[in-house]
Amino acid sequence: MENKDDVLFFDGCSTVELAEKYNTPLYVISETEIVNRINQLKDSFLNKYENTRVAYASKAFCTLAMLKICEREDLCIDVVSGGELYAAIKAGFPAERIEFNGNNKLPKELADAVDYGIGRIIIDGPQELDLIESICKAKGKTVKVLYRITPGIKVDTHDYMITGKKDSKFGIPLDEDVFFPEVKRAIDSEHVEFKGLHFHIGSQLFDNSTHIAATDVLLDLVQEIKTRFNYVVTEINLGGGFGAKYIDESRKDFSYFIDPMMKEIIKAYEQMDEKMPAVVIEPGRSIMAEAGMTLYKIGSIKDIKGVRKYVSVDGGMTDNIRPALYQALYTGDVANRMNEKKDDTVTICGKCCESGDILIRDIKVPSTTKRDDIFAVYSTGAYGYSMASNYNNNPIPAVVLVKDGDSDLIVKRQTYDEIIENNIIPESLLDN
Ligand code: LLP
Repeated sequence: MENKDDVLFFDGCSTVELAEKYNTPLYVISETEIVNRINQLKDSFLNKYENTRVAYASKAFCTLAMLKICEREDLCIDVVSGGELYAAIKAGFPAERIEFNGNNKLPKELADAVDYGIGRIIIDGPQELDLIESICKAKGKTVKVLYRITPGIKVDTHDYMITGKKDSKFGIPLDEDVFFPEVKRAIDSEHVEFKGLHFHIGSQLFDNSTHIAATDVLLDLVQEIKTRFNYVVTEINLGGGFGAKYIDESRKDFSYFIDPMMKEIIKAYEQMDEKMPAVVIEPGRSIMAEAGMTLYKIGSIKDIKGVRKYVSVDGGMTDNIRPALYQALYTGDVANRMNEKKDDTVTICGKCCESGDILIRDIKVPSTTKRDDIFAVYSTGAYGYSMASNYNNNPIPAVVLVKDGDSDLIVKRQTYDEIIENNIIPESLLDN
């Protein structure tokens, strides 16, 4: 981001020109930022440790262009639905580099995954193995599987972003009579190849202690599996969850999380006198969040004297549900008044018919801010576009990819017709 002649530039592009050219609301994604993050992952993980993979959590931002970037950068991807899997296949992403997570994978989704020949299925619960086995048996194929465990660790983040505590819909509980019989069945199965264990404990984390604690839980299980079944786990997936910067959080290097976990794994495998396993991580937000911003046009401004000044923009919770859903905090700027003194305090709200449709509370902006100015909300690259909705029949905004001053449309703006195209008026109502 830089500031030229009062205007905000992102990856070399004027945000004011982007707003004019592509209209608003507009998601703007910086390819340079994405690649810089991926390079950090290469330095701190892929090139530093052997036999490692980064499976980008595509739920953070799942577009064909992003999947192409991941392919070019030699990443794997994590998908959690038939829809994400379909997008990856449509983007030409190599199936063997796709890893499939999710707590209720549908029979059809699993069948497609097996047909495509995807790299891994991460089994998330007690009945999934039966389902996978029957599909593989019918097709005469095998698939490599891991078990997602719930390490039972309480992490410090919003409740909706916690996924690794025992009372969670995700992962297999570690009860003696559940976990070990499951793993034994997978080891013995003719239809699946058991590779190892996975955890993902939560999202937007800044303290590595919970990742380390989860790794220790997982490594105890690895040891126990060896002792009981004389079987050595050959793959460990440490999930994602590494925090990104939205306001003023101080972002931790990837190595802050990765190094201590790798140390634990190396130590455990040395103690067992076994060859190091493959190690996988699944970052989503930490690659995408700061690589995106959303541009809006300012509309109505309502100054309730002595109470609050509402500045409405032409999008809102339909393109960024995170403030309403998680009370997530964002910041931003009036993109065409970057050099002006920020001498007013306003609340940026969306246009949806919901009082909770507030994007940013109490932010400083220039008092000259007026209708038709462009407002940029920062760090919307992860879980913005991917969680967008059509509430109030608002179209999903367009997405542009910017790089060194060039821009490419990568997702067209939805039209009103596209919003209603699947609607059907039954015969019985046609005469009305
Ligand atoms: N792997 C698994 C199995 C996951 O469930 C998730 C996120 C990730 C990786 C990626 O986590 P990340 O590195 O992005 O933190 N929509 C929410 C967060 C829920 C994410 C759920 N799973 C948000 O907007 O913050």
